[in-house]
This record gives sequence, C-alpha cells and structure tokens, in this order.
Amino acid sequence: MNPEWYRVLFGEMGIEYEDYPFTKDTEKEVEWMIKEYLTDPEMKILDVGCGTGRHAINLATKGYKNITGIDLSPGMVEAAKKTATEKGVAVDFRVCDAREIPFENEFDAATCLCEGAFGLLEDDYENYKVLKAIQRSLKKRGIFILTTLNLFRDAEFDPMTCRVEMEMEITGKDGVKKTLGCSDRSYTFPELKWVLEQHSFEVLLGANPYSKEPIQYGSMEFMVVSRKL
Ligand SMILES: C[S@@+](CC[C@H](N)C(=O)[O-])C[C@H]1O[C@@H](n2cnc3c(N)ncnc32)[C@H](O)[C@@H]1O
Repeated sequence: MNPEWYRVLFGEMGIEYEDYPFTKDTEKEVEWMIKEYLTDPEMKILDVGCGTGRHAINLATKGYKNITGIDLSPGMVEAAKKTATEKGVAVDFRVCDAREIPFENEFDAATCLCEGAFGLLEDDYENYKVLKAIQRSLKKRGIFILTTLNLFRDAEFDPMTCRVEMEMEITGKDGVKKTLGCSDRSYTFPELKWVLEQHSFEVLLGANPYSKEPIQYGSMEFMVVSRKL
C-alpha cells in the first residue's frame, strides 16, 4: 500500500469526483448546516479538504462571502475554481495540506466533510495534525463540523488500528488503469469525542450526518459538531 494513497487517488481527480452518488445531497447538507450552525452569512468559514468545492460554492451561492476552501489535490482545486467562476461566486480556494493550514484565530467555523483529509492520512498522528491545524485556525468558540467513517458499519477493519484496507481500480490522466491500495480510519463516537476534547474542543453533537438523530449502527458515517474552547 502507498501510505500517501489519498494524494495519488485525489491527485488524479477533478470534477468527475462529483459523479459519486454520495456527492448528490449537497443542497440538503448545506441547508442543514445553515439552519443549525452556520446561521450568519457574515461568518468566516474554512472548508478543509474541500474537494471540488461543492459545499463551499453552495454556501457562496447563498450569499456567504467569506469562504475559504483548502485541498491537497491541485486537480480538485482547479475544478472548484472553475465551478465557482461559472456560478459567478467568489471563494478563496487554495492548494494546501490540511496539516499545514496557515491561519490562526481567523475563522468563525470550519467544516471537514466526507473525509476531507481527517481519517485518510497514514496514521493517527498525521490525522491529529489536521485537528491541531483546524483548532489553530478557528477563533475562540469557533464551530467545527466534522463527518467521519463509522466503525460500526459493515466493513472488515483491523482491530489493532480501526483501519479498513481496500484496493481501488483507478485510471490515470494518461488513461492507464492501475490498482491502488488504500486505507482509512474509522471511529466510534466516544473515541472521537475524547480525541476532540484532547485537542481543546467541546463536543456539542454526535449524530447521524446532517441530523440530530442518534448515530445508527451500520451507517457509513457520523457527524460530530464541536466548539473551540
Ligand atoms: C472524499 S473527498 C471529500 C471532498 C469534500 N469535502 C466533499 O464533501 O465532497 C476527500 C478530499 O480530501 C482531500 N485531502 C486528502 N488529504 C488531504 C490533506 N492532507 N490536506 C488537504 N486535503 C486533503 C482530497 O484531496 C479530497 O479532495
């Protein structure tokens, strides 16, 4: 397995990422976040691992003018910039590693959705660097909305690491097909709550994504909303 598989997989990708069925509920997801936590269009919001910018751009089309999106993949960021231009909205999209976010006490809220970096990296220490960087970039009492893979789903994970290994068939920009070994980290809510508390966040919600319903056994992801202490 390539430990930086996420760099290879998403590095090759652009707007075709939005063909995945799990990207189809953006409108509902953003509406929920606005209703519950991102209530003021003046808020300064950071979208970490923003991919093709589907949440950031949707927020911008609803009048949010202070949105920044960062992602490791130049192809994803290029696609995000192109869509924003086509939709006539301004979003500050940047190629940036989530472990090295260059902001301090800057944002009213941060989102990290659908495994935008956190959980994809090679080990827990690398994933924690993402949490540290997000914590640093938020203002005091800034809101952090995270979705993450649910350990209690139908997947064969390594009990020592809580990681699932899999192989993906990818086609490079050169048209050549290859097999990529991937591995991502899943969590239980009590573990992630503890981890967030260790990084100076106060946890406000653990729920099924984009709801206040209890986390379900078998669901792919869950959501944790926290606040910087
Ligand atoms: C499954 S996509 C999620 C994209 C978007 N948040 C969404 O909801 O559709 C994961 C994204 O995380 C990005 N990513 C992975 N590792 C990263 C890192 N270390 N820093 C920043 N972005 C990263 C990938 O490039 C990819 O765009």
